[in-house]
Amino acid sequence: MLIFLLPLFFLQSPTVAAPIGICYGRVADNLPRPSDVINLLTSNGISNVRVFNPDPLTLKSFSGTGINLIIGVPNEILPSLAAGSPTFSLEWLQSNIFYNIPTNQIRYLAVGNEVLSKDPYYSPFVVPAMTNLYQALQTLNLANSVKLSSPQAASVLSASYPPSSGTFDPYIVSNIVPLLRFLNDTNSPFMVNVYPYLSYTSSSEYISLDYALFRSDKAVLQDGALAYGNLFYASIDAFIYAMEKQGFVGVPLVVTETGWPTSGGAEASLENALAYNENVVRRALAGVGTPKRPGQGVEVYLFDLFDEDGKSGEEYEKHFGIFGLDGSKIYDIRFN
Ligand SMILES: *[C@@H]1O[C@H](CO)[C@@H](O)[C@H](O)[C@H]1NC(C)=O
Repeated sequence: MLIFLLPLFFLQSPTVAAPIGICYGRVADNLPRPSDVINLLTSNGISNVRVFNPDPLTLKSFSGTGINLIIGVPNEILPSLAAGSPTFSLEWLQSNIFYNIPTNQIRYLAVGNEVLSKDPYYSPFVVPAMTNLYQALQTLNLANSVKLSSPQAASVLSASYPPSSGTFDPYIVSNIVPLLRFLNDTNSPFMVNVYPYLSYTSSSEYISLDYALFRSDKAVLQDGALAYGNLFYASIDAFIYAMEKQGFVGVPLVVTETGWPTSGGAEASLENALAYNENVVRRALAGVGTPKRPGQGVEVYLFDLFDEDGKSGEEYEKHFGIFGLDGSKIYDIRFN
């Protein structure tokens, strides 16, 4: 009997669904009240949220809701956390975060955001701050449940096409290797903010919209033995190859931001935003992994809950919102 069952067992490739979350950016002066936001999240079955800073009222509004959070530790606080003692970090965590939200609702602390390539002044402080925070979490017996990482922008890579060429920018290698070592040592994920929208709009002569929107039925890019049908997975695998080239083979990856705008730029539309986000969600839930890590859904946080009218820069940056200010969905995406 066993003889017949064993081959079947091995044929079924196991798949692991990944959590889906949404970013709650608050650079706007017209957002709904926090209590209305919680209702919106729970009524849509959204149980993972990324907040960019530990605003006390926002954290308090999540307390007791059962929603899991990524909480941002702002870039500006990194120098004091790095220079202080682990005791200072512990006090900072308690008064700024744990006082306002139960620790079992904290999935990750995102220490700084896009520091290495976008805000390099803070680069030397990232890992020392994480080390102090880690020791503080150990003291509280929380180091295994509250994981630390530091989201990076795609610009930490100097090469990403094809994915197997993925390489970290030589200018930031001396800062990224200690970060990877910390993540590897503490079983924590590498966090990346990935926007195929930006890759597409900056190179639309080389990249097809269908490839960016998951609408190609066949592989668009053959990279050695691996075939890529969408730009999202190609972008992620470029990071995995870049980590491997530095000797870090098993570090998990979490996409802490991805999205597609509904207006304000080329190919920014309701239809395209729905196509992009829906495909990201569907694959994560189905446990479809990237060609390099098949069968393992990619944990992902969609950007963004609401349009952010206070964002500076290009017009499209204000228009990533999935929900309107009245709490209705702008387009019909499902999260479960
Ligand atoms: C990563 O962690 C594993 C398991 O702890 C260890 O065996 C390996 O040497 C580490 N890799 C690097 C490059 O430090």
